[in-house]
Amino acid sequence: MPGYFLHTLDDTDSTNIECKKMAENGSAEGLIVQALSQSLGRGRRGRSWSSPKGNLYFSMLLKPKCSVSKALGISFVSAVAMCDSLGALLPPMVEVRVKWPNDILINQRKCCGFLVESSSDSNGNVKWVIMGAGVNVESFPENVDYPATSLSFEGSPNLALREVLLSFLRHFKRWKNIWEEEGFSPIREAWMERSIGMGKRITANLVEASYTGIFSDLNADGSLLMITDGGKKVVITSGDIFPELEV
Ligand code: BTN
Repeated sequence: MPGYFLHTLDDTDSTNIECKKMAENGSAEGLIVQALSQSLGRGRRGRSWSSPKGNLYFSMLLKPKCSVSKALGISFVSAVAMCDSLGALLPPMVEVRVKWPNDILINQRKCCGFLVESSSDSNGNVKWVIMGAGVNVESFPENVDYPATSLSFEGSPNLALREVLLSFLRHFKRWKNIWEEEGFSPIREAWMERSIGMGKRITANLVEASYTGIFSDLNADGSLLMITDGGKKVVITSGDIFPELEV
């Protein structure tokens, strides 16, 4: 696909680590590092990401001309694009949703996660952003913090990794253009339409505390606004959320 350069590895420690090395060595925007397996797959908040062969692991190098705080939008662009892309690959009527900030759930179980990392210069402008994604295509781990699933389990067996990647890239290109031309507002709208838990009761686990209450808004900077059961407004910028399961 024009604008992207794919670098495929059989096995690596982590595609984010590889992509970061290549970014520091001057690689151009659009580089995608894909690995068939990872020995040190990394997740958000210091967790590991189970990375056996059969699933999709890739990291994309981006160089948006903006501040690091604005570049956070990429995380939401990616989530919306992946939600649309997986929805198109799965049988009709299968429920695909985003869980704050950028997990993708199928039938309320996690199928994809993103690890977005960035580096900035002394003025706070972005040097590079690395958007790493793991998609459970064939298998999913048991005994993880959040119940997991795979595309295969949810009704789309035998998908080629290349097909899943290309589908994501098509949707990503479209949503990234919208973000560049119109800003975060349409991305926020699209994210909210696809989200799980908005307006409903959730529990948010932060490093320092845990809150339960209503997920009442996605702020313009991507943070989550919660009204706790005690009536307090809490702005969440980092943490894990657990929506109440819908039956
Ligand atoms: C999460 O939900 O915790 C984020 C998971 C991100 C995993 C992907 S797999 C490709 C890339 N390389 C890594 O080491 N992590 C990301």
